[in-house]
Amino acid sequence: MNAAVPPSLAAEAVSVTFDGLRAISGVSLTLEKGEILGLIGPNGAGKTTLVNCLSGFQLPTEGRVRLGGQDTVRWDAAAFRKAGVARTFQGGRLFRDMSVLDNVEVTGVALGLSRRAAQRKASELLDWMGIAQFAHQLAGTLPYTDERRVGIARALLMKPDFLLLDEPAAGMSDHECEQLTALIRIIRLEQGCGILLIEHNMAVVLGLCDRVHVLDGGRTLAQGRAAEVRNDRAVIDAYLGAEG
Ligand SMILES: Nc1ncnc2c1ncn2[C@@H]1O[C@H](COP(=O)(O)OP(=O)(O)OP(=O)(O)O)[C@@H](O)[C@H]1O
Ligand SMILES: [Mg+2]
Repeated sequence: MNAAVPPSLAAEAVSVTFDGLRAISGVSLTLEKGEILGLIGPNGAGKTTLVNCLSGFQLPTEGRVRLGGQDTVRWDAAAFRKAGVARTFQGGRLFRDMSVLDNVEVTGVALGLSRRAAQRKASELLDWMGIAQFAHQLAGTLPYTDERRVGIARALLMKPDFLLLDEPAAGMSDHECEQLTALIRIIRLEQGCGILLIEHNMAVVLGLCDRVHVLDGGRTLAQGRAAEVRNDRAVIDAYLGAEG
């Protein structure tokens, strides 16, 4: 990363078209290091597609993604990961028949660490996250809330500058949401990364996020400080209405 440019991960007028369907249209968004940015919007709004673009899993049809001011036009997902952009997946994507420790360790090996170094880092991280008790359990036997934590551990392994979380709280109880919220706060505080959080639960969003970006039908509907967006009439009509 260019040290002279303040670190940020930015989508600039990004559009993605799938076989004629416009999944996102001209979306611009900047994630700064150290902030938590909420990305909200109804199902199919384009949130995951945008995160895919910001992490090299999807090439924008138009527009570009910059990291620390650098154009990432030829970067694949591995290049984003090596440059400090990590993400989790809506579907988990753990190796179910491998242990939790091995699941985290392989990420380190894939990123160039020796097995020994990867195992040490993975153990330290599971300790830090308070999930060391699961280290030798098969990932496929975990309740999905713990599975999510392992997904976050894999993303955090190489101390990314940017962490993109795709609906980490989906399906969680209120108590589990509170635990996840506490974990995300600690990640920001102790690791200092910029966090993009896709989340439907507005209590979680309002409790955590400095700013919120709202997508609807692939377009930016609103963006701003969390409390302002919460009271935006267009956002309430399009998205929050059902929650009152
Ligand atoms: N690989 C793909 N091929 C074709 N269409 C796709 C593909 N990925 C996403 N889409 C379409 O693009 C639109 C945006 O999808 P996306 O998954 O980004 O939405 P989302 O906001 O993450 O939704 P959800 O809240 O359900 O996760 C949807 O209409 C979806 O069907
Ligand atoms: Mg999605």
